[in-house]
Amino acid sequence: MSTAFLYRQIFLSSCLLFCFCLPFGVKSDELQLLLNLKSALNRSSTPNVLDSWEAANPFCSFNGITCNAEGSVKEIELSSQKLTGVLPLDSICQLQSLDKLSLGYNLLYGAITKDLSTCVKLQYLDLGNNLFTGSFPDISALSELQYLYLNGSGFSDTFPWKSLENMTNLVVLSLGDNPFDRTPFPDEILKLKKLNWLYLANCSIEGRIPPAIGDLTELIELELQYNYLSGEIPVEIGKLHKLWQLELYSNELIGKLPVGFRNLTNLEYFDASANHLEGDISEVRYLTNLISLQLFENNFTGEVPPELGEFKKLVNLSLYTNMLTGPLPQKIGSWAEFDYIDVSENFLTGPIPPDMCKKGTMKAVLMLQNNFTGGIPATYASCTTLKRFRVSYNSLSGMVPAGIWGLPKVDIIDISFNQFEGAITSDIKNAKAIGTLSAEHNLLSGELPEEISEATSLVRIELNNNQISGKLPHGIGELKILSSLELQNNRLSGSIPESLGSCASISNINMASNSLSGKIPSSLGSLPTLNSMNLSRNELSGEIPESLSSLKLSVFDLSYNRLTGPIPESLSIEGHNGSLTGNPGLCSPTITSFKRCPPDSGMSKDVRTLIVCLALGATILLALLGCFLYLRRTEKDHDRSLKEESWDFKSFHVLTFTEDEILDSIKQENLIGKGGSGNVYKVMLSNGAELAVKHIWNTDSNGRRKSQSTAPILSKRAGKAKEFDAEVQTLSSIRHVNVVKLYCSITSEDSSLLVYEYMPNGSLWDRLHTSRKMELDWDTRYEIAVGAAKGLEYLHHGCERPVIHRDVKSSNILLDEFLKPRIADFGLAKIVQANGGKDSSHVIAGTHGYIAPEYGYTCKVNEKSDVYSFGVVLMELVSGKRPIEPEYGDNKDIVGWVCSKLKNKESVFSTVDPRIPDALKEEAVKVLRIAILCTTTLPALRPTMRNVVQMLEEAEPCKLVGVVISKDGDHKKQEAMDYAEKFNQQL
Ligand SMILES: *[C@@H]1O[C@H](CO)[C@@H](O)[C@H](O)[C@H]1NC(C)=O
Ligand SMILES: *[C@@H]1O[C@H](CO)[C@@H](O)[C@H](O)[C@H]1NC(C)=O
Repeated sequence: MSTAFLYRQIFLSSCLLFCFCLPFGVKSDELQLLLNLKSALNRSSTPNVLDSWEAANPFCSFNGITCNAEGSVKEIELSSQKLTGVLPLDSICQLQSLDKLSLGYNLLYGAITKDLSTCVKLQYLDLGNNLFTGSFPDISALSELQYLYLNGSGFSDTFPWKSLENMTNLVVLSLGDNPFDRTPFPDEILKLKKLNWLYLANCSIEGRIPPAIGDLTELIELELQYNYLSGEIPVEIGKLHKLWQLELYSNELIGKLPVGFRNLTNLEYFDASANHLEGDISEVRYLTNLISLQLFENNFTGEVPPELGEFKKLVNLSLYTNMLTGPLPQKIGSWAEFDYIDVSENFLTGPIPPDMCKKGTMKAVLMLQNNFTGGIPATYASCTTLKRFRVSYNSLSGMVPAGIWGLPKVDIIDISFNQFEGAITSDIKNAKAIGTLSAEHNLLSGELPEEISEATSLVRIELNNNQISGKLPHGIGELKILSSLELQNNRLSGSIPESLGSCASISNINMASNSLSGKIPSSLGSLPTLNSMNLSRNELSGEIPESLSSLKLSVFDLSYNRLTGPIPESLSIEGHNGSLTGNPGLCSPTITSFKRCPPDSGMSKDVRTLIVCLALGATILLALLGCFLYLRRTEKDHDRSLKEESWDFKSFHVLTFTEDEILDSIKQENLIGKGGSGNVYKVMLSNGAELAVKHIWNTDSNGRRKSQSTAPILSKRAGKAKEFDAEVQTLSSIRHVNVVKLYCSITSEDSSLLVYEYMPNGSLWDRLHTSRKMELDWDTRYEIAVGAAKGLEYLHHGCERPVIHRDVKSSNILLDEFLKPRIADFGLAKIVQANGGKDSSHVIAGTHGYIAPEYGYTCKVNEKSDVYSFGVVLMELVSGKRPIEPEYGDNKDIVGWVCSKLKNKESVFSTVDPRIPDALKEEAVKVLRIAILCTTTLPALRPTMRNVVQMLEEAEPCKLVGVVISKDGDHKKQEAMDYAEKFNQQL
């Protein structure tokens, strides 16, 4: 609903609150009716508006009550008060003088079964934005009604349209956002000649917009978005010359903008996006008062009218995904406080208009996928409000103005696939908000500035396929939330900085095809979330660090370097075959395609003996030293850290173990897993029961492990500790058969232990992809899918507030002794965050291959990001493949791979795991369809976990109808929806 609409509501309500009247003849029966109302409504907040409703007080002075001159209740204004309960309408309708009942924006529920015909005096009725159920009753008796708000009220079935027939006094009619039955545009509404505001968005109206709409000439606001309207826009709409806002988006309208449009000269907000409109948009050239014009996702052709360049109030322009040609008017956006332009995915040419930030207010330039030429106007280098700058896939060239790199608020710079030249300048140190730097496939040269390490919000660096030379910045380890680093196909030289091992959030490193030399830093082996590493085609030498063995990599490529020496044992497995070829100096005792170790090096026997002796000596010395250090460390880590420190034991349930029992078990031999946030130990209690304990190191704001040190840190910790405890308390209260139980936490100054129930069958990842792989038949896989979905549904919808997992993946779905799934590690990202000091707005959680695309753009997570990751898990279950596999090709993951297989039925079926028998492949494909919906690019188009459970249970995909496309936000892509559609057609 428009802001203007809201303003009007607020204006009306405040007016009515101010004109209070003194009570004259107090009517005790009215008092009783109001007390009935009070007792029916629970207040979820205290203090609240109903506190003053006491029998001892005159009821005309009750908050929210206005009386008339006779002392009878005239108005009840209780909107936005968090009231909940079933409305006692029979009581309310006995208030003889009541002409206004305003209860919008509350939590009222239940069906209205009472006859409302006794509320005859009502002029104003607002029950909108509540949780009612059932159908709305006939209200034809309410002939005085002027304002009727039922938007978002929850009423369903067939609306009693007939009752509107004689309500000719209606000025505002707001029925949108309700799940009513499908209906053609109701004729009854066309008789309401006084209507100013008509809000019928998202309430299942189908068919044509009737030409008689042109008779409602008092309309100022007409909102019909999110319906099933088809046919052409009637030319009669041009008669609504008072119209100020017209919303027609997300329907199925066809044809051209009718000529009548030119008469709508008062129009300030016009949105007809996401329809099937065609023809040119020359008709808008007359709408000179437009503030916002949204025509994206249609089939419009022709040029953008030059007059748009003279529109003095225009601040939002969104024309993306059409077939528009020609240049943009160069003065566009230069008059008012311009906000954003999105003209992506057209065939526009010519230069970028230079003055859209003239007033210093512009936030987004989105012009990707066109044929724009010329350079980036220098004016944008000082546009300090700019947050999103995306001009990728054009024919732009020249130097990028230095200031662009350092815009203080910019969150994404995307200039990839152009012909830009020059270097990334040291200005980038000022880009404190930048999350994504995407400039791949250009002609950028020069060195990467050392100052890039000061842009500490960076999550993605995509600079591959340029001509960048020189060394990598040695301070790169300062980028603590960097998740993806793509530098392949450049001219980088020198060694890989050791500090890269401090990029604690990195999951993807690609530096293939450069001239990097020196050794692979062993620090890379300690990157907790790394799972894709490609260093192939460089000049790296020396041995492969043993430390890399501890990584869990889905992409691993060191081929075509100059590596020598033995291949570490754990890397010698079949899966990595091919990723070490082209290194003639490597040897292996097990892989036959490599020479055997130790090789005959051709040295004299004496020298060899000497070397062997020296080596032996050194080994013994090292071993002794190692033992010594190990003992000291063990002592340090466990005896001191774990026992002597003061541990704060928070138990929320009746437990059958003691703190000491847990602390004693945190040792190397009990280690069963390593994850992004900490190690997992298996604890066997004296009574035979088993537990899993996660040991999390608390980190400071730089991602370093916290050391016990200064007082300020201690006091900061106190605040954080509270948050941590609160978080653990919430999580440990979660009880669901598909969610791993969190028993308690034990915290100390620099680490925390989380005690969980133990799952004997490991994780789904293990069962699908590793040496612990087992034959999971389709029934089992399906049960795992449904169970895991229910667990996640519970986290999202079943708790007091939604728990967002943030790292849904098959290794976080554990299996009990009957292979029933349970979600693990839920809410952990939040916990780690609560315990450390990381900037919450930018914490990146998740694992390469499972991360929803919006991470890269907003770094904000919500339930829908979990839904995406869950979709990836479903794809793993169906295909038996990992999220990232070399066979998917460059820059593709399982989602891209599946989508590339939607061409025809055969290729869809080819994605199903060959171990699933043909007879069941049909079933598997049903689940795949759900997976595709879950992995839709646009979060708003993904189903909720509740829908996912329903769909899985029916094993039938949901129809996309009625799914709401969020209107705000970035340049929206519909590919995924198209995939789904294509898919539905084919099967
Ligand atoms: C509207 O008024 C007409 C004429 O008075 C009447 O026949 C009709 O029943 C009324 N409609 C409703 C729904 O009350
Ligand atoms: C637009 O306005 C002109 C002048 O008032 C009028 O002649 C014309 O019929 C109108 N067009 C439509 C479609 O209403």
